[in-house]
Amino acid sequence: MCLPLPSFKEVSHSQGKQGTTWMQEILTLIYSKGDLEPAKTIPNWARAPWLEHTYFKDMLQETSGPRLITTHLPCQVLAPALRKSKAKVIYMARNPKDVAVSFYHFHKMARFLPDPGSFEDFLVRFLEGTVQYGSWFDHVKGWLSQRAELDLFYITYEDLHQELGRSVERLADWLGCPLQPEESRAIQQHCSFSSMRENTMVNYTLIPCEIMDHSRGRFMRKGIVGDWRDHFTPVQNMHFHKIYQEEMQDSSLRFRGLMD
Ligand code: A3P
Repeated sequence: MCLPLPSFKEVSHSQGKQGTTWMQEILTLIYSKGDLEPAKTIPNWARAPWLEHTYFKDMLQETSGPRLITTHLPCQVLAPALRKSKAKVIYMARNPKDVAVSFYHFHKMARFLPDPGSFEDFLVRFLEGTVQYGSWFDHVKGWLSQRAELDLFYITYEDLHQELGRSVERLADWLGCPLQPEESRAIQQHCSFSSMRENTMVNYTLIPCEIMDHSRGRFMRKGIVGDWRDHFTPVQNMHFHKIYQEEMQDSSLRFRGLMD
């Protein structure tokens, strides 16, 4: 894939349900220096459009750089073009058990995705990698393997949960946009789950019911770490653990509270 990347400021990656929307909001506010205006008046998909969507080309023509770009694409599709660009890349990951749970609930409301069936069935497909955007393991390992070759910042959903302020400041410094304390405070307040849940520019309630059935759930669902404990049976947990060990044995990646 050949992309006009040199004018891109920053590309934010993750597989679905790892906290992409949270990162879009944080980055919007880092670049606005804590000014809430863009986050409250422009939908997130226009502020940080998805590279893989059909509207992307038109959106690019309407904006000038530097730009925020979002994608769920795997590394083998995009990394070659990124290596030739000056883009900064942020990869957001999340405990895959919570990703599976969040993705399962999202399938129930997203009319453009197949019916997930039971959680048991969905978990089988998640572990096989036959869900949208493929295997979580390949996605994460692929992008992390590019650390030495790309200007890549890796962060987890759990990091944001544990230390939102510190994470926002680290990101801002890395982007070359250091924040004043009051700017950082404004970002933390606005990026809390409760605040984002009420913000129509980011909670997806603007999307028509033919695309997302809002009677079947909320995009901003729970926003917690460890919801897998309310969904996994002990057998599912053991099976997941076994596959995780096999797939990630060569990886240095660690998630807080992954297996307890
Ligand atoms: P849950 O379904 O577990 O609640 P993505 O944006 O990659 O699709 O990820 C969506 C997940 O991120 C959802 O998880 C959503 O609630 C969560 N999320 C979004 N904004 C958040 C925030 N400010 N704080 C915590 N979780 C957030």
